Amino acid sequence: MKGIAYALAKPRDANDIKRFLSQSQMSTVGISSSLKSFILAKSAKRIIGVVGVEVYGGFGFLRRLVVRPEFRGKGIGGELCSRAVAHAHIQNVNELFLLTTTAQGYFARRGFQKVDRKLVPAPIKSSDDFRTLCPVSAVCMKMNLGERAVYFPRETLALKPDVPGAQMWGVALEKTLLTYFELAPRCRFASHRHVSEQVTMVLEGELFFEVDKKTVGLKPGEVIAIPSNVPHSVFTREKRTKAIDAWSPVMPQFVRTKSGVHP
Ligand SMILES: CC(C)(COP(=O)(O)OP(=O)(O)OC[C@H]1O[C@@H](n2cnc3c(N)ncnc32)[C@H](O)[C@@H]1OP(=O)(O)O)[C@@H](O)C(=O)NCCC(=O)NCCS
Repeated sequence: MKGIAYALAKPRDANDIKRFLSQSQMSTVGISSSLKSFILAKSAKRIIGVVGVEVYGGFGFLRRLVVRPEFRGKGIGGELCSRAVAHAHIQNVNELFLLTTTAQGYFARRGFQKVDRKLVPAPIKSSDDFRTLCPVSAVCMKMNLGERAVYFPRETLALKPDVPGAQMWGVALEKTLLTYFELAPRCRFASHRHVSEQVTMVLEGELFFEVDKKTVGLKPGEVIAIPSNVPHSVFTREKRTKAIDAWSPVMPQFVRTKSGVHP
């Protein structure tokens, strides 16, 4: 549907989310502390749908999917659902759980399968939402994220801080990792090496690599390939720079594990 904007919630959205959930007969308990986990659909700057995804290590808990009644049946719930899956995926969630009393068929059509409630991992079971919002009659459903193709709309690819002056996101499968970096001028990654092979392409600006006692400057569209364990440092000079990297094997901090503990 045209004219709908999807975005991660910001602190200024807190009161509007609470009002929207109250109007939708949904609990507002703990909203302020879990604001970052909400994805919003807005029309004319007004909230018309929300979904929340809490992350507990390798496990995610999808809750409070709701669309304003007059906007239902237009695909907005489906869009929120797939964005919730992408949001969980990029945070290395392996298994996404939900409980529902009203929409088992809806979630089944979107790839969730009914599972025994006993299988819900302890961190989700002990969460406030699980303990206070979910009646015993609710059906528990689960999606294994590593088994499905996932589409990442722009707002799910939120930048996270890395070394000073650098922000990045990474999308990983079991054997493949893609990262994207935005670098300020005079940003530096000190000399380091890693088991993973690295192939980097500059999209904008200019990126310098020191390898084998030589410095090479990559311009937009140029690529450098760094084999396993070759020491290198990376830096920018005057230009803001954007680059993408492919890595193999996946760097440990992006490895998806059921327990959420990275090796
Ligand atoms: C469930 C909900 C989020 C769906 O939002 P939506 O924007 O209407 O969803 P979509 O437009 O993506 O999908 C509409 C389809 O889902 C079906 N559907 C909607 N609610 C359903 C439900 N509770 N159970 C089964 N199917 C459902 C519709 O019949 C429609 O089917 P069609 O494509 O064959 O016509 C919305 O109905 C809602 O807010 N319900 C109240 C809150 C709720 O129950 N939330 C889920 C539990 S946490």
